[in-house]
Amino acid sequence: MSKLAWWQRGVVYQIYPRSFQDTSGNGVGDLQGVIERLAYLNDGTERSLGVDAIWLSPFYPSPMKDFGYDVSDYCNVHPLFGDLATFDRLIEEAHKRGIRIIIDYVPNHTSDEHPWFIESRSSRDNPKADWYIWRDPKPDGSPPNNWGSVFGGPAWEWDETRQQYYFHQFVVGQPDLNWRNPEVKAAMFDVLRFWLERGVDGFRMDVIGMIIKHPDMPDQPWLTDVDPNLPENAIYWRQEHIYDQDQDDVHQVLREMRALLDEYGDTVGIGELFYSLPRWVKYYGEQGDELHLPFNFRLIDHLPVWDAQQARRIVDDVDGAVPPFGWPNYVLGNHDQPRVASRFGAEQARTAAMLLLTLRGTPTLYYGDELGIPNGDIKPEQKVDPWGIQMGVKYTRDVCRTPMQWDDSPYAGFSNVEPWLPVTPDYRTRNVAAQDKDERSMLNLYRRLLWYRKGSAPLYGGSYQAVDTPHADVFAYLREADGERIFVALNFGDEERTVSPPSRGQLVLSTALDRAQGVTNEVKLRPYEGVIIELG
Ligand code: GLC
Repeated sequence: MSKLAWWQRGVVYQIYPRSFQDTSGNGVGDLQGVIERLAYLNDGTERSLGVDAIWLSPFYPSPMKDFGYDVSDYCNVHPLFGDLATFDRLIEEAHKRGIRIIIDYVPNHTSDEHPWFIESRSSRDNPKADWYIWRDPKPDGSPPNNWGSVFGGPAWEWDETRQQYYFHQFVVGQPDLNWRNPEVKAAMFDVLRFWLERGVDGFRMDVIGMIIKHPDMPDQPWLTDVDPNLPENAIYWRQEHIYDQDQDDVHQVLREMRALLDEYGDTVGIGELFYSLPRWVKYYGEQGDELHLPFNFRLIDHLPVWDAQQARRIVDDVDGAVPPFGWPNYVLGNHDQPRVASRFGAEQARTAAMLLLTLRGTPTLYYGDELGIPNGDIKPEQKVDPWGIQMGVKYTRDVCRTPMQWDDSPYAGFSNVEPWLPVTPDYRTRNVAAQDKDERSMLNLYRRLLWYRKGSAPLYGGSYQAVDTPHADVFAYLREADGERIFVALNFGDEERTVSPPSRGQLVLSTALDRAQGVTNEVKLRPYEGVIIELG
């Protein structure tokens, strides 16, 4: 096995800073909170989670119309979260523990309060007039094309001063930058340098496939087969996205970004992309010269129900599609998606943990999933997410952004005042302190899986091969490196299933955490049980 980079061998843990740990007493998490919880993430012993890197969702100055994904200053820290000195301390403290820091980079749009946009909208001939996407109205005054905003409604907003429309792929307060303007590209590359100079180890690049649009911005075709429950204003979700994103010339920008990252050595570029497999693999670059990890959301988007055959198809397809110079990755949850424990169920979430942490490729964990936190109970009047509000749909991303549950004190040890979103109702029993003591808890399952993976060359670096079993509800596979072989069998169903590894082996871990280790050539999996067997 060739030498692997840290981001190939390691496990990434996503922190939504607003919701991890509040130390300033305002009900919103902060960077000092992350520093204080680093030992939980990795203190070098198996009592900690053992993650190798954290990805921080945005902590930049922002009017918070999209909770930080509307940035008004790319090179600073919002006072809610701390300041640059706290960020520097976070880097230093994390690095001391061998934890890398990946930060969110939001290149597609700024906040409408960013000084660049304020200048750009001030006239048609100011120096930044062309830094955003401005267009004249159609002769009848209507928007220049039929494109919709991801968050509902048209993607164009009329500006009185310029007497033009500006384009916003997300909320009105998130105008899209014009990446076809070389000055914009240079300024945004300087942002990368700013943080690399401060010592960050990589970036998670927000909606990276959207930064380049078709230069003529033609109307997009309407889909013929749409979900009848889609709200009226969901224009974006009724169109075929052939001009507003995933344009061939985005790859040139990504190659330049990669060259910049490479100047700083061992860094990682992870990109948020939602495209079909053949389009998605292109983001590795034809020569492996673009993203290190184009995010692979298939275990979220393509697994609507907990189904072994579908999971296998996804993994087979992904593993087969990734080019030889590329590296796969998997993820089960993030700050935009319903919690994995609610999507699949509490028991299934344990099986899912074993799946995620035994596949070939970098796993990204979402804070709180290691406790099995379910979707939050958000009353309609408690909704703050612009998605949930503007689309007028029942779903709100607030459900997966509730505070981390550290203990059973009134606000779950997250804060000493009422948090910005309510903690989930089960926090008195579902929290780090309680699960730490319970040898069979979800938290201890995650710890065991992470530490086992760390020491297992087949798991962190070996090949993947699905194994047929007689049961449609079992997904089994072999992982192999340097002659060492591991067999993983996951029972997705609610019935007992007997499976046989290809040869005798040593059972080393069960999702139930209650089996004695022992040599076996047959194992009776209980409902939703998964096992790891080292083959002799
Ligand atoms: C990405 C982020 C999401 C955000 C959007 C706009 O999809 O994950 O949270 O709302 O981009 O920046």
